[in-house]
Amino acid sequence: MLVLKTISEVRQAVAQYRKHGKTIGFVPTMGALHDGHISLVKRSFEENFATIVSVFVNPTQFNNKEDLEKYPRTLQDDVNLLQQSGCDIVFAPEVEEMYPQPDTRQFELGMVAEVMEGKFRPGHFNGVCQVVSKLLTITTPDKAYFGQKDYQQIAVIRTMLSKGYVPEFKGELVPCPIKRADDGLALSSRNQRLSPQQRISALTISKALFSAKDKVKDGATANDLRKYIEDTISFDSNLKIEYVEIADKDTLCSTNDLHNAIICVAVYDGDVRLIDNILL
Ligand code: PAJ
Repeated sequence: MLVLKTISEVRQAVAQYRKHGKTIGFVPTMGALHDGHISLVKRSFEENFATIVSVFVNPTQFNNKEDLEKYPRTLQDDVNLLQQSGCDIVFAPEVEEMYPQPDTRQFELGMVAEVMEGKFRPGHFNGVCQVVSKLLTITTPDKAYFGQKDYQQIAVIRTMLSKGYVPEFKGELVPCPIKRADDGLALSSRNQRLSPQQRISALTISKALFSAKDKVKDGATANDLRKYIEDTISFDSNLKIEYVEIADKDTLCSTNDLHNAIICVAVYDGDVRLIDNILL
């Protein structure tokens, strides 16, 4: 496995694969890797000749300076984990390599980027689009893998691609299911920051989502589900809801029709912001 720091080295490696007609899978990450990330890497390993994983904490997608500073950085551990997971190339650039000049591009993506995470983290998706468009242009993969843990992120990237913002990328975007701990908590790099007590509280979030989904079979309405989830989560005094949304799974706009819907939540567990979702 190669660990590369520069764009030109990655482009050269990609050109070699292409010359020999080999397929490339790509998994963008911000590091602090866990089994959720690794499930994407393994999927890419199964479906492509070569797998490239980027590890880059992208400053432009953080709307909160403290969050950026506190974001865990564990490159050596990440490299060790990737070595055992079928990765061929790790791309771990410095900020100056990705942003020699400030990126001033503004992506016009409509409502899909304005609701939920877009509303509560202004500028976040624009930063995601900046870095993902650069990464896809550098790696030009046949398939790019994204986790449904960040369901809205996939919808935003799909919209960016359909609007022609990344003409160099002609591959396929592959959504992958959420990987959870045995007790149901969605795996996240941020879980590392939870105290033992907060870790127990966090479980309430996934439990509320699973029970809500069960209630659909018993005829619950969207309002019933929203109220049930809000009541269940707020009952735990460690947890503070940012939003509970029932949204159309394609447009991500709020809906009361449960046939094509997803429930998305963002909750503060102490000072750690957690997101989770469940498709109905
Ligand atoms: P990061 O949070 O590191 O996540 C990298 C990828 O792993 C994303 O596609 C995310 O959805 C996926 N992932 C995280 N937790 C997961 C889980 N429990 N199950 C399945 N997949 C999971 O998302 C980002 O980084 C950044 O925004 C990035 C796309 C790399 C751009 O900077």
